[in-house]
Amino acid sequence: MGETVIPLADLRYAGSVPPIPPQPIVPSGLLSDRLGRPLRDLRISVTDRCNFRCSYCMPKSVFDRSYSFLPHASLLTFEEITRLARLFIAHGVGKIRLTGGEPLLRKGIEDLVAMLAELPGPDGRPLEITLTTNGSLLARKAAALKAAGLQRVTVSLDALDDRVFRSMNDMDFPVADVIAGIDAARAAGLAPIKVNMVVQRGVNDHEIVPMAQHFRGTGIVLRFIEYMDVGATNGWRMDQVVPSAQVLQRLQNRWPLESLEPVAPGETAERWRYMDEAGEIGLISSVTKAFCRDCNRARLSTEGKLFMCLFASRGHDLRALLRGGHSDAEIASALALLWGARDDRYSELRGAHQAPPGSGERRVEMHYIGG
Ligand code: GTP
Ligand code: 5AD
Ligand code: SF4
Ligand code: SF4
Repeated sequence: MGETVIPLADLRYAGSVPPIPPQPIVPSGLLSDRLGRPLRDLRISVTDRCNFRCSYCMPKSVFDRSYSFLPHASLLTFEEITRLARLFIAHGVGKIRLTGGEPLLRKGIEDLVAMLAELPGPDGRPLEITLTTNGSLLARKAAALKAAGLQRVTVSLDALDDRVFRSMNDMDFPVADVIAGIDAARAAGLAPIKVNMVVQRGVNDHEIVPMAQHFRGTGIVLRFIEYMDVGATNGWRMDQVVPSAQVLQRLQNRWPLESLEPVAPGETAERWRYMDEAGEIGLISSVTKAFCRDCNRARLSTEGKLFMCLFASRGHDLRALLRGGHSDAEIASALALLWGARDDRYSELRGAHQAPPGSGERRVEMHYIGG
């Protein structure tokens, strides 16, 4: 069977409610976008709220008491999320990541995990279900999440130094509680655990080697993320980015490392291993080495808008389809049409100093669409 390629005009900005194609497009698991990329990974944001105020994501100056978060009625329900997940799986999605905001703030999140865990993966293979969290509530929730069917977690942690960490989350939240969350996740068997560190020059780059030292030999994979120009509120500047090549150099000065092959195509992180068998690290280089070419990720926002790129300005209103009485076949066909029309590659174009389409518009915020 060949790949399903749907030649269409660019639909991305054609209005927010996706059109239903006149002829049904039966899911084959073989969708391909306009750049030949399959659909494999669905990232679902379950809340736009967070109990941290990391300045690179939700600066307090913008996200203060007067900021209006989404009202509860506008959020997709767990039933709606599960229904969409089933349709995405039919189109070939094999990995679902729950994000936020802070996903553990969504009431009953373990119930959603349990509902998703009942879905068979594509071709009857097991579905991979994971979650990205700031770790603040993980000590309390790890065991219940594991029991519900969550397989692994990724924890965001930008520093081990308590003073630096409290200042970066801007809520005076102690690092010890996040470490306790990681320990609880390990005890619950939510492995392999990954830790994401967003590196900002002059803010936490002095923590690169201490973080590596701390997680070496633990089986936990530490990943260094280049600070990105995502959203419209963080005032990003290129001189705040520490290129991954420099991160690697600082690590190599201390411990020899060698590169590893990717586990699967389209991964965000380049993998490296310590030559002394102390495990591996990852480098996520969206700024200096864009990885759009194999990007197989779609993103579902908290109120059901589908975004084809982390840097998109507009989403497609799937909630309107769900609440408009459309059948599974109709919604699945609309999804196929949208993916077939996708040509996003923001990071590559930014690297080539080209203005991506729609770049004059306000981009979505990371806390709303998930990382
Ligand atoms: P694994 O399945 O564990 O490899 O996770 P992942 O890397 O797909 O997901 P995670 O949420 O850990 O993402 C790590 C970081 O990579 C995020 O914080 C984002 O900053 C960045 N990231 C993830 N997906 C994309 C993407 O499609 N484009 C860009 N530019 N950055 C991304
Ligand atoms: N650049 C890079 N990573 C970011 N994250 C949030 N905002 C940014 C940004 N501007 C990361 C978080 C978390 C993941 C979901 O996204 O730290 O690890
Ligand atoms: Fe920080 Fe993550 Fe919360 Fe954003 S969503 S403020 S990165 S903890
Ligand atoms: Fe995918 Fe957009 Fe990220 Fe490129 S910038 S890897 S297209 S989400």
